[in-house]
Amino acid sequence: AVPEARDPAEEFGDLVVALPRKEQFIVGRLYKGFWLPEPYAPGILAVRRRFTPRPDDVVLTSYPKCGTTWLKALAFAAMARDAYPPVAADHPLRRLNPHACIPFMEDIFTERQEAKLEGLPSPRLINTHTPYSLLPETVTTGGGCKVVYICRDPKDMVVSLYHFLRRLQPDLSFADTFHSVLEGTVPYGPMWDHILGYWHASVARPDRVLFLKYEDLLQNTGEHVRKLAEFMGRPFSAAEEAAGTVASVVELCSFDNMKNLEANKTGATERKYISIAHDAFFRKGVTGDWVNHMSPEMASRLDEIFRDKLRGTVLT
Ligand code: A3P
Repeated sequence: AVPEARDPAEEFGDLVVALPRKEQFIVGRLYKGFWLPEPYAPGILAVRRRFTPRPDDVVLTSYPKCGTTWLKALAFAAMARDAYPPVAADHPLRRLNPHACIPFMEDIFTERQEAKLEGLPSPRLINTHTPYSLLPETVTTGGGCKVVYICRDPKDMVVSLYHFLRRLQPDLSFADTFHSVLEGTVPYGPMWDHILGYWHASVARPDRVLFLKYEDLLQNTGEHVRKLAEFMGRPFSAAEEAAGTVASVVELCSFDNMKNLEANKTGATERKYISIAHDAFFRKGVTGDWVNHMSPEMASRLDEIFRDKLRGTVLT
């Protein structure tokens, strides 16, 4: 039997309130170099202390607004394709928002629902925005489990973040969003350190950490679905290739298909501290929308900072 989960707010509350604080969209707390959203900080610390991965778990991670929803859909569709063929009319992804198909660690631990996680059959898909250096050691050392990260051109991330936050805070200006990203004080920021942690891990432990880019996925989704499935230990067979299963996964998870599903046009994902309308996860789904929001000067400034911070990687 799984013991009743401790309340992380009680367990880590004192530690969290002693951390540097900044109100930026939501209150952030600076912990070991990252601005954790305050409501989730105790949960993230609880994950660190208590999460026990299974070797075949796959943790899907991202900086917010970099393609989390799409990665969740693709990973779920590929992983569960025996139980749910991607062409099936009643496929869970045709009935549910992708966030309802894969648990979000921060929510699970904040809401003391660890038993729910334990009850999931293997192989489990789990999601978090936690930076690599703050993941539990049980994940990042030894056999751990598998981790898939998705990142994106920071310029497009800023634009996506701006539109997303505007749904929650209609008077927000683009300039404010831009400056918080530059300052690194955005939730889970700084973004460059978030990316760097996962990048270095993917170089050091390529069999355990897969690093994906939103732009690459858009350019050749099928190729990346194959890569993802193989990494997760579920490569497509020759028979599946011949039957066009990869293309079916791609089509099921395509922006146009997902955006137009009733489950994604209506309703909301209720997190403990926030309610996010499902349609807020599907805006444009393209690369380069930054040109419509940013001056060339702003773009070069952001590019320059990221070039500098990510120097020595192939990401610049
Ligand atoms: P835009 O705001 O640029 O359109 P996240 O899921 O991490 O919150 O990221 C959201 C971004 O991913 C949004 O970008 C959203 O439109 C895009 N997105 C969501 N589902 C997608 C899909 N199936 N294919 C491509 N992009 C998708």
